[in-house]
Amino acid sequence: MAERKPLISGNWKMHHNHFEAIQAVQKLSYVLSSHDLEAVDVSVHPPFTDLRSVQTVIESDEIAIALGAQNCHWENNGAYTGEVAPAMLAKLNVSMVIVGHSERRELFGETDEDVNRKVKAVLAADMTPILCCGETLDEREAGGAAARVEGQIRSGLAGVKAGQVSGLVVAYEPIWAIGTGKTATPEDAQEMCGMVRSTVRSKWGDEAADKVRIQYGGSVKPVTAPDLMRQPDIDGALVGGASLDPDEFARIIAYRLVS
Ligand code: PGA
Repeated sequence: MAERKPLISGNWKMHHNHFEAIQAVQKLSYVLSSHDLEAVDVSVHPPFTDLRSVQTVIESDEIAIALGAQNCHWENNGAYTGEVAPAMLAKLNVSMVIVGHSERRELFGETDEDVNRKVKAVLAADMTPILCCGETLDEREAGGAAARVEGQIRSGLAGVKAGQVSGLVVAYEPIWAIGTGKTATPEDAQEMCGMVRSTVRSKWGDEAADKVRIQYGGSVKPVTAPDLMRQPDIDGALVGGASLDPDEFARIIAYRLVS
């Protein structure tokens, strides 16, 4: 079984202008210990307008935090007013891109096909997609959560080779848990993340399934992180609200210290 290094990612959504972003990443680097950063990979995903500033701070201060984006288009240039190309992000040393977040799907109409194009474009630009999946409360209550998420994985990763699936990240985020303060129980989260891994195993094989990193997301807080991170198929967390405060985010990253 492959050792999977945990990945904890901060999705800042539409928060923090570039001055606030610089302060947040600097503070995060002060409060994180080198042990934390050796044991856990950390990424931050600021708004597009902050990326250049955050890149400069990370590189000049040699901070071991990966720079991430929250979205991108699937083409590398063209008449797509308001969009940002994967190649533009790669040029800023962005290494991870969140793709298919439920807010993009629900508020901006992204389809599974769009998500699949974006996953492929991010891979083609040598960055790592964080492919988001997750069911609504209605789907969960109707017993359709597993089918919904399995469908999102199969279509989101359609045509992606097993060797590429090994290196990417899937974030399981039940929509009813995002920003609501309702975290899935560690057992429910494990069941769904285990199902994601089985889906990868049946379609892309053992190596991809053993290497792909699966995050849980949805109201993760310092107090809930340790039990979630103890689950065998949970390799990290995608954190929204609690990643905006560097102290709180650092306490999540230091989840190992809580017994
Ligand atoms: P939340 O957001 O932690 O604020 O629930 C998670 C996410 O949407 O990625």
